[in-house]
Amino acid sequence: MRIIARTPRVWLLIAGIAIIVIVLVAGYSLSTAQAHAAPQQPIAFPHVTMVQAGIPCLFCHTDVMRSPVAGIPSVEKCMGCHRTIAATAPAIQQVAGYYQRQQPIPWVRVNRLPRFVYFSHRPHIAAGLNCERCHGDVGHMTVDQAVTTMNMGWCLSCHEQQPNAAQLRDCAVCHQ
Ligand code: HEC
Ligand code: HEC
Ligand code: HEC
Ligand code: HEC
Ligand code: HEC
Repeated sequence: MRIIARTPRVWLLIAGIAIIVIVLVAGYSLSTAQAHAAPQQPIAFPHVTMVQAGIPCLFCHTDVMRSPVAGIPSVEKCMGCHRTIAATAPAIQQVAGYYQRQQPIPWVRVNRLPRFVYFSHRPHIAAGLNCERCHGDVGHMTVDQAVTTMNMGWCLSCHEQQPNAAQLRDCAVCHQ
């Protein structure tokens, strides 16, 4: 009688442990996958094609030098070229569809810091760092993806190498 009464509890315990293990493993693989896997974009945007056609990064990411965000070009800007360039390609017809519906293309962010971190492109570009230093060789990517996990250790490892490291490791620089 006792053994029979205990059996369900043992199974509950085993099931409980199994669930915890599954959650931990899934959580871990999700968090590592999120760091680097390229997100599914609404339109396949081939950086390599446009960069090799000679369009500079700053032509599209115009705000890098004047505001904290680099900015993603508007669909109007895409159509400035694509009304004529490759206009019949299926991907461009998708772009034209957004333009006609006056909808912004819902690009999925590849790199995003938590809200409690302050980051601005401007001081970094002004200090002479190029885009590739942090984003990898985007100009040769067919699908844009993160090359590094942008965590605190990553930020600090570079700040530590700067001449004014003492100032740049101050918590208030990034946590304002
Ligand atoms: C300054 C001009 C210019 C701008 C602005 C521009 N593109 Fe392009 N794009 C090109 C050129 C040039 C090509 C190469 C065309 C070819 O290979 O025939 C291209 C190719 C493409 C292709 C591949 C087309 C194919 O053949 O399958 C896609 C998709 C694309 N662009 C999307 C976009 C999107 C989305 C935007 C806006 C965020 C944009 N482009 C902005 C010039 C531009
Ligand atoms: C023709 C316009 C165009 C040009 C030129 C261009 N980009 Fe982009 N970029 C985009 C668009 C549109 C997206 C959003 C879609 C995506 O992430 O693939 C994007 C996304 C990105 C992202 C990811 C942003 C995020 O979500 O975190 C980075 C980083 C980036 N571009 C860097 C560059 C660099 C570096 C260059 C030059 C080598 C460059 N881009 C040239 C249009 C452009
Ligand atoms: C010192 C490292 C660093 C350099 C250099 C750098 N970026 Fe970034 N970039 C970041 C980080 C970190 C984020 C995420 C910012 C956030 O989530 O607030 C980001 C986000 C972006 C984004 C998406 C969000 C936005 O701001 O619109 C684009 C586009 C982008 N970078 C383009 C560029 C381009 C183009 C260059 C070169 C001119 C460049 N980056 C140079 C670190 C860098
Ligand atoms: C590859 C090197 C590198 C990486 C990676 C990097 N930084 Fe920087 N950071 C610099 C340099 C260089 C400066 C400019 C120092 C100066 O002008 O005195 C700077 C300046 C800054 C400033 C302005 C400091 C001030 O006093 O004006 C902030 C804020 C900042 N970084 C935040 C970040 C954050 C947040 C990250 C990570 C998401 C990061 N940085 C990653 C090199 C880097
Ligand atoms: C150069 C930029 C930078 C500096 C300086 C910096 N941090 Fe951070 N910090 C970050 C970034 C980016 C994150 C978010 C990513 C992560 O969790 O690693 C973060 C996250 C954190 C978190 C949350 C960690 C978590 O797991 O959620 C704490 C707490 C923190 N920082 C404390 C500090 C303290 C205390 C200092 C000063 C001794 C400091 N930071 C200096 C960039 C910085």
